[in-house]
Amino acid sequence: MKEQIKFYYGETIPLELHKVRIVQKLNLVPIERRLSALYEGGFNTFQLRTGDVFLDMLTDSGTNAMSDKQLSAMMQADDAYAGSQSFARLQQAVEEVLGKKYFLPVHQGRAAENIISKTFMKKGDVIPMNYHFTTALAHILENGGRIEELLHDDALQIKSDNPFKGNIDIDKLIACIEKHGKENIPFIRMEASTNLIGGQPFSISNLMDVRRVADKYGIMLVLDASLLGENAYLVKEREPEWQENTMADILKMMTNLADLVYFSARKLSSSRGGGICTNRRDLYGKMEAMIPLYEGFLTYGGMSVREIEAMAVGLHETLDETMISQSPAFIEYFVNQLEALNIPVVTPAGVLGCHVDAKQFCAHIPQTEYPAGALAAALYLISGVRGMERGTISSVRDEAGKEILADVELLRLAVPRRVFTLSQIKYVIDRLLWLYDHREMIGGLKFVYEPPVLRFFMGKLAPVSDWPEKMMAKFRKDFGQSL
Ligand code: F0G
Repeated sequence: MKEQIKFYYGETIPLELHKVRIVQKLNLVPIERRLSALYEGGFNTFQLRTGDVFLDMLTDSGTNAMSDKQLSAMMQADDAYAGSQSFARLQQAVEEVLGKKYFLPVHQGRAAENIISKTFMKKGDVIPMNYHFTTALAHILENGGRIEELLHDDALQIKSDNPFKGNIDIDKLIACIEKHGKENIPFIRMEASTNLIGGQPFSISNLMDVRRVADKYGIMLVLDASLLGENAYLVKEREPEWQENTMADILKMMTNLADLVYFSARKLSSSRGGGICTNRRDLYGKMEAMIPLYEGFLTYGGMSVREIEAMAVGLHETLDETMISQSPAFIEYFVNQLEALNIPVVTPAGVLGCHVDAKQFCAHIPQTEYPAGALAAALYLISGVRGMERGTISSVRDEAGKEILADVELLRLAVPRRVFTLSQIKYVIDRLLWLYDHREMIGGLKFVYEPPVLRFFMGKLAPVSDWPEKMMAKFRKDFGQSL
C-alpha cells in the first residue's frame, strides 16, 4: 500500500503507515549560534555538527529509520571472522531480492566503485553512463579513465514532465561506442534514480534498450543499485507496462538486465555497508581477491555482523511498497507545495529529496560564487535545516585548474525514510518561502581551503560580503525572535 491518502475535503497528503517508538530530541539553536556554526564550519554544511542542526536533510545515506525487524535481527547476529551465519543470511537475501548468486560484501558503495574500477578499467578508458555520481566519478578518474554522460537533452531542464529523466539517450550511447571503440569501454554504468540530477529514475524499457546495445557490442552493463528500490517504485507508478507487477518482479527485472550490480546499503537497505553481485562466475573471480585486500574477509567485507543482519532484512523490506513509498510521497508533497509557491524546484518530484534550483533562486549569484552552496548556508542560517550543495562545489576543476561549472546548481533537501513528520516538512517550506522573498540578500561564497579530491566534503568557504550578518538582522526583525 502507498503512504498517501485522499481526504474527504479533497486534499491528498502523505499518511504515515508506521508508528514512532523511539524518539531523538532535536535542538533548534538560536540564529546567533547558527551564524557562528557556519563560520566554524567554513560555510560548508558537511562541516556542521548535528548539535547545531535542527532538521538534518543532508542525506538519506545511513540515516533512514530502521525497522523493528531490522533491530531485532541485529540482536541475533553471529559474530565470526569467517563463515558467519549472518553472512549466509545476507547472501540468501541478495539472491532472493536481487537475483544474483555471487556476492561480494564491501564497507560502503564507494568501495564497490573502487573495486570495479580497479578490476575492469585501464588508463584512457571511457565509461558511458546516464549521469555521474561524485564517488563513481572520483574512482574512474583515479584509474585514469573519463566519463561520458548520455542523458536526453531535456533531462537537465529543471521544470519538466518527463517521468524518466534518468534514461540514457540510446543514439548518443551508440555514437559514443562507435567513437571511442568498444575495446576502450569496459562497461556502461546505469545509475538507478540518478542522484545528482534530482533523484530521477530510468524506465525498464530504456534499460532493456541499453542491454541490447551492450549485447551488440559485447560490453558489460553495470548497475548502480543504491537507489534501486525507489527507481522500482517509480517504474510501478509511471511506466504503464509495469503497473500490475510487484516490486519484487520489477527489482528482479532490472537486476537481471545487468551483468554486475553494486550498491550502497546505506541507501538501499537503510543500514550500513554495500556489495557487488553478479551471476557471472568469471566476473566474481576477477574481483574476489580485492575484498580481503581492501575491505575485510569475504564473509564480512568491512561490515559488522549486526550491520549485515540489518542489511539482509532491509533488502527484503525494499520489496514492501509501504516501506519504499513513504519518502517519495513526502517528497512529492514537498515539491508540489514549493511549486505552488513559485519556488523553483526540480520536477517531476523524484526520490531521495526535494531539489531546489539555486540557479534560479539565486540568479544574481554567479556560478563561480557557488549559488547552491550559498543557498544551503542561507537556509541553515534562517532555519537550522541542513541541506547539501549539489552544484559546482561538488564538481571538480579541469586539468588546468579551471572550474568546471556544474550543469545544475541544486540545494538537495534529503527526506530519509520515515524520519520526519509532515509538520517538519511544512516548517522547511515556510522558511524557504521567507528566504525566497528575501533572496536578493543571499550573497556568494569563495573557497578559503580547497582540497584536491572530493573538495565538497572538507572544503572551507567564506561569504564574499557581510550578507549573513545582514540576513540575521532582517530575520530577527521579521520574526521578533532568534528561532
Ligand atoms: N552511488 C550512488 C547513486 C550514491 O547515491 C552513493 C552515495 C554512492 C554510490 C556511494 O555510496 O556513500 O555508501 O559510499 N550517496 C550519498 C548521498 C553519499 O548523500 O547521496 P557510499
